[in-house]
Amino acid sequence: MAEIAPSILAADFGNLQRDVEMLNASSAGYIHVDVMDGVFVPNISFGIPVCEAVYKHAAKPLDVHLMIEKPDRYFEAFKKAGAWGLTVHYEACTHLHRNIQHLKELGLSAGVALNPHTPIELLSDILEDIDLVLIMSVNPGFGGQKFIENTYKKIAKLNALREKFGYSFKIEVDGGVNLDNAPQLVKEGVDILVAGSFVFNSNDPAATIEKLKNS
Ligand code: DX5
Ligand code: ZN
Repeated sequence: MAEIAPSILAADFGNLQRDVEMLNASSAGYIHVDVMDGVFVPNISFGIPVCEAVYKHAAKPLDVHLMIEKPDRYFEAFKKAGAWGLTVHYEACTHLHRNIQHLKELGLSAGVALNPHTPIELLSDILEDIDLVLIMSVNPGFGGQKFIENTYKKIAKLNALREKFGYSFKIEVDGGVNLDNAPQLVKEGVDILVAGSFVFNSNDPAATIEKLKNS
């Protein structure tokens, strides 16, 4: 059984409070907040003020996914805006070790995301320092994309490494998650399933979250 982190990117921004309250009343474990800068990814979503607005109504921890270049410039600002944890991209950080230490000093959960083309082996010297590994199962930038099948293999490998060395990081998967792929993702070792469009485009988002959780 995994925790569910619905992505607010797929919510109705005109009714953000309503949608956050729906998540509060659901069995979601986190609220996933997708920040895009139009440079690291070919899309702009929202930034610090929207994170603050979500936090104001949220009763669940904010799992903030930074799809931005040089994310360390904004760690303090996102902490102030209510983040429980920040996930940076391996591909966007030249000094990843320093960035992880910075997140820990701030008392935030320290996550690292990998794009679909980035092998997990590149994290081997830092795995013991991080709290969460986010495996992208689509190319970041947009909600509603198709799940990349190679993700299963990647997660299985990462889970095997975690077991072999006794690491404590959580494994999160993000992109194209639905009830068809969730059971196998959980079987391969995923702890947190991010789901955007599958949750928010369903007739009963709270029931969909519950189904994903039980998958
Ligand atoms: C993609 C984002 C995802 C996205 C997931 O760049 O990181 O969190 O919102 O949306 P779905 O579940 O629709 O693929
Ligand atoms: Zn995300």
